[in-house]
Amino acid sequence: MSDNRGHESFLIHRKLKFLKWAIGLCIVAAGLYTFHEPLGEPNGGTWLGYGLGGVCAAICFWLAWFGVRKRQYALGAIKMKAWLSAHVYIGLSLLVLATLHSGFQLGLNIHTLTFVLMVATIISGIFGVYYYSRYPSLMASVRGSSTLDEMMSQIAEFDQQIRAASVTLPDDISAQLTKSENETKLGGSLSEKLSSSFRNCPTRAARVYLDDLEGEFAMTNPVIRQIVALLVRKEDLLRRARRTVQVQTLLKFWLFFHIPLAVGLLAAIPAHIVAVFFYW
Ligand code: HEM
Ligand code: HEM
Repeated sequence: MSDNRGHESFLIHRKLKFLKWAIGLCIVAAGLYTFHEPLGEPNGGTWLGYGLGGVCAAICFWLAWFGVRKRQYALGAIKMKAWLSAHVYIGLSLLVLATLHSGFQLGLNIHTLTFVLMVATIISGIFGVYYYSRYPSLMASVRGSSTLDEMMSQIAEFDQQIRAASVTLPDDISAQLTKSENETKLGGSLSEKLSSSFRNCPTRAARVYLDDLEGEFAMTNPVIRQIVALLVRKEDLLRRARRTVQVQTLLKFWLFFHIPLAVGLLAAIPAHIVAVFFYW
């Protein structure tokens, strides 16, 4: 079997297999809800209510298990994609299943807190999907830092070539190039990681300094032209590396919401069950 699935988005994984599963689950639940005849108003305490509540709770714990699966490195890219695809679509189906479970009886109480936490986790999940589909290459790069490592070693190589080429140049130029090598930063504080402008970059300053040099020496010196070319390539690589750091940081920042909300939800479910039986 030829396998193009490695390049396909998790959103359309296997011809939307998990979207179909999720829609199927919602249709079965809505069908049962329409045809069941509870004593009194539909609510979480009928046989269907318990059934749907149990399914919702099981789904929530299974979704959280993804955090464990994700860290199992033996999991290949395709399996990972299948997990994420299922995670997203089955996660979204909770909106329908939990609403039917509650019998549309949402009010200001601990039960609705569980519901609110679930919706907040789902909304934060939707933001995550947005990031992942906007920056598909991140799926791989966030987990392993190989691309970034490769860029860093290429930058170090440019630095080495620039250093070797610059030994014969005047002191003022050498000083700029040493600054570019020693003071160029990647990452740093949170705001530096999130920023993409890097106006005070010493590599850019060195390139501008060399570009602005006047006189015949600068115009005709092949070493200067060679160094400017190397600086331009280094700058381009730095731009890409910084962009990668920026997006990786954004994603980690996003997980700071999704994970605690998910943990809060997992804690709220048993509290909801205890409250339900306490008031029973
Ligand atoms: C993600 C999981 C769950 C969510 C988001 C959820 C949410 C809700 C909501 C919003 C209500 C309506 C509260 C009201 O009537 O004011 C409710 C009711 C109820 N839930 Fe859940 N629930 C979940 C899981 C469960 C589970 C696993 C059980 C099983 C023990 C359960 C049992 C009940 C019962 C018995 C009621 C009726 C309470 C009453 O009418 O006083 N729920 N649930
Ligand atoms: C409501 C139940 C949900 C729970 C309990 C839950 C829980 C989790 C957990 C524990 C992780 C692993 C995070 C980590 O350890 O790095 C995760 C990842 C993720 N979740 Fe959810 N999630 C839920 C719903 C959703 C929904 C509805 C979506 C999308 C619409 C979503 C999108 C994502 C994405 C994109 C990831 C990141 C995957 C990755 O980094 O490879 N989640 N979720």
